[in-house]
Amino acid sequence: MVEPNVRTLRGAGIAGTGAAVPEGILNNFDLEKMVDTSNEWIVERTGIRERRIARDGELTSDLAARAARLALDDAAVSAEDVDLVIVATVTPDMPFPSCACVVQGKIGASKAAAFDIGAGCTGFVYALSLAHSLVAARRYSNVLVIGAETLSRIVNWRDRNTCVLFGDGAGAALVRPLEHGDGVIACILGADGTRGDLLTLPGGGSAHPASHDTVDQGLHYIHMQGNQVYRFAVRTMVDATREVLDKAGLAEDDIDLVIPHQANQRLLDLAAERLGAPEKVYSNVARFGNTSAASIPIALDEASRAGRLKADDRVLLVAFGAGLTWGAAILRWCKDEFRE
Ligand code: UT7
Repeated sequence: MVEPNVRTLRGAGIAGTGAAVPEGILNNFDLEKMVDTSNEWIVERTGIRERRIARDGELTSDLAARAARLALDDAAVSAEDVDLVIVATVTPDMPFPSCACVVQGKIGASKAAAFDIGAGCTGFVYALSLAHSLVAARRYSNVLVIGAETLSRIVNWRDRNTCVLFGDGAGAALVRPLEHGDGVIACILGADGTRGDLLTLPGGGSAHPASHDTVDQGLHYIHMQGNQVYRFAVRTMVDATREVLDKAGLAEDDIDLVIPHQANQRLLDLAAERLGAPEKVYSNVARFGNTSAASIPIALDEASRAGRLKADDRVLLVAFGAGLTWGAAILRWCKDEFRE
């Protein structure tokens, strides 16, 4: 007999998406004038041709709020009906209040709780997994999941090892209950905190409180051991993909579209090679660079609006990032199935 207070899980999925990027474009030729680099080097090693850069006064929360409003429009849900806002970011407007609280205020989601998730470039997959669980458990019904970054504010524009890689932007998805079936088939998350030093912003926290000295030492910038992160990324993309496919009981052939974290075209090519189907791997890294937690939701929104996703398509998301963290999810595309 079912206990009266035990409530069964329900399905949940993405009911709408949105994305917002700054208007300003910085291309590789602009970068040639700033650091000792070349368009050829950047394109060959990363596939990036240009990236968007927020203008002065344009905040992470502004991009997040724009993406969130578009996701709500897409789902035909009003901001007042949102009951939770989660923002994945490593570049909140300030250490506190959280970026999610700022966004909640900006979009008028007055009934929503709000908090940030810090899982580096994996942040959107972490946030989506959590949102799905909370809706499935009937705790919340309209959860806005946003990945938003202004990495241009934490990049050292004199460091050619990092400044050519990153860009600004935001993407959002609204997670809602489903009448039948589930919109997230499987999800895996992981972390290895012992290797966090490969990708850090060391200054401004309790380890190195902000001071003239920390600024002189450049501790408020991204510090990255690029080729070690690259090696980690290659292994992670392969292992996380295999693990989530196993968990879902699916094979690579069963996947209709793969949206990897848009860090580097070489990594996207690797995913395509393993899948044996380059047309199934979504890439926009040439236009936006690495936008960290925003990269997957921006790509998901583009793919959706371009008609690349049809009912019941299986979409594989796979990400890695600072922490170190990784995560993968297999979605069933179900945008047209939502109940009140
Ligand atoms: O979202 C997670 C964030 N991080 C990542 O995704 C980064 C993952 N890593 C990568 O994508 C690649 O490691 C990079 C694109 C960062 C670098 O490519 P690489 O093939 O691993 O190059 P490298 O770091 O081994 O450097 C090779 C050379 C070095 O010169 P030397 O020491 O061999 O003389 C670098 O100084 O390339 C030099 N280099 C550059 N040259 C021109 C590094 N950056 C540049 C540059 N322009 N922008």
